[in-house]
Amino acid sequence: MENPGHFKVRINSLIPGKPTTFNLYLKLNNQNVLYLRAGDRLDGEKIKVLTTKDSGSHFWVNEAERKMYKGYVHDQMVSTDLNVREKSVVLRESTISLVEEMFENPDVNQALENSRPVIKEFVNFMQGEPEAMGHLISLSGHDFYTFNHSLDVSVYSLGLAEAMGFTKTDLEEMGVGALFHDIGKRHVSLDILCKKGPLSDVEWAQMQKHPQYGLMILNEYPNSSDAVKATCFEHHENFLGNGYPQQLQGQEIHPFARIVAITDTYDALTTQRSYNVPMTPTDAVTMMKDKLAGKYDPEMLKALYSVLFKLKAA
Ligand SMILES: [Fe+2]
Ligand SMILES: [Fe+2]
Repeated sequence: MENPGHFKVRINSLIPGKPTTFNLYLKLNNQNVLYLRAGDRLDGEKIKVLTTKDSGSHFWVNEAERKMYKGYVHDQMVSTDLNVREKSVVLRESTISLVEEMFENPDVNQALENSRPVIKEFVNFMQGEPEAMGHLISLSGHDFYTFNHSLDVSVYSLGLAEAMGFTKTDLEEMGVGALFHDIGKRHVSLDILCKKGPLSDVEWAQMQKHPQYGLMILNEYPNSSDAVKATCFEHHENFLGNGYPQQLQGQEIHPFARIVAITDTYDALTTQRSYNVPMTPTDAVTMMKDKLAGKYDPEMLKALYSVLFKLKAA
């Protein structure tokens, strides 16, 4: 643990000028130094100075005050003085640190439990604000860390599933599944995950094991449902039947996994990684429709189109 008893709070998830309901600490020379007392207001100018420094993207909050922070984020989401864009930033920024924790937390059960209210918050936001999805998507795809990728895949998947007419319960379940789809990468070595350039055959074989590893991890925890497990285990199957690990085809593949197969590729194609040039959304979807046709559920691919098209109109 980087800072036992404390969790990370990204600065951009906090609203300057609004009183906090929890103490904020900075970690300096391995010590937690109180930066702002609960009830005090964050100064916008001071934050700007802070973000230019090394440790500047986040504060630390005592674990005992986690509920207060969650309540604070929820209050911002339902407040009337923030616009949709500002709410999108708060939701995304507060979730990134949570997803980061999920990938580092040895207690996957806890991580699964933590993820549910967050996904609910996304679903409520998306269904309550017609422009929310557009803003959330426009904040996606700026860098390619596993946790940003997982969050972005969840956002795209929620948009796509909503366009397909999924129920709210399904949306919530699928959002969790999408967030955990690559959890098995915990068991793939960092050298492989971060390698700049193409993988060797041996490395590739390791990488392709991540759906199995993911299932193994999730099987140990009662908080993961069959749908969440299927999303993780089947997200590299492909519609024609030549994916992995089971070579399932068409409707045999769980619908959530068919969605994640699409949004996962879309995110990979449109995000800057160390060795590739990101494609534009239009180029990525065109390539998936033409060159990669047959890999994906055609109805769902159409839905991705409609989500991205709606975005352009917004
Ligand atoms: Fe994957
Ligand atoms: Fe992925």
